[in-house]
Amino acid sequence: MYKESNNVVVKHLVNRLRDVRTASNEFRMTIEEISRIVASEALNDYPTVTHNINTWQGSLDVQMIEVQKLVLVPILRAGEPMLTGILKTLPYAKSGFLAMKRDEETAESKLFYENIPNLEDKTVLLLDPMVATGGSLIDGIDYLKSKGAKRIISLNVLGAPEGVKKVQDAHPDVDIFIAQIDERLDENNYIRPGLGDAGDRAFNTND
Ligand code: PRP
Ligand code: URA
Repeated sequence: MYKESNNVVVKHLVNRLRDVRTASNEFRMTIEEISRIVASEALNDYPTVTHNINTWQGSLDVQMIEVQKLVLVPILRAGEPMLTGILKTLPYAKSGFLAMKRDEETAESKLFYENIPNLEDKTVLLLDPMVATGGSLIDGIDYLKSKGAKRIISLNVLGAPEGVKKVQDAHPDVDIFIAQIDERLDENNYIRPGLGDAGDRAFNTND
């Protein structure tokens, strides 16, 4: 299943990302904000558990997200601001890391580093702003499945229809929550209209 956000604030923020005058600092903060909203949409029907808390009028049983069973995994580098944003909402979630780089000629992704906590009985929120050919996301999901993830939810900002379909075909059990699906993939495997290279925009390495 994939779900494109229909939140007007999300659409507004995605268009801030498209504007080349949006400098890296604002670009990262905007990715953080979009990610927090899309994560809220993704977790809307996530199971809750009863917690007993101490309120100003004594003890109370309340329903809370089972944060201990969530693992946030950004695909570095562009996924880093997504992690920073979601950790502001869910500061006690565990995090793991995948560092992948797409070969700009072949669009094949390569894994350079991983540090993934125990995924037994865990739901992973996999964080990557861009789904272009879908190759990086498919490889990331393959890897997390090989580590035993119980469920994987993909959170993304921009996708090309071709890439999103490829991910769905390869991993129909993974739910994709995405801020915006754009028109197409161009001849250089970039998303159009897109926003350019998300890692370069976020970390000021455009030139
Ligand atoms: C970008 C982006 C995705 C990937 C998407 O990362 O952040 O991870 O490309 O392309 P794909 O769907 O065709 O695989 P990149 O490899 O450029 O690394 P970066 O985050 O360090 O910029
Ligand atoms: N990676 C990006 O950052 N942007 C694209 O359009 C494609 C891959």
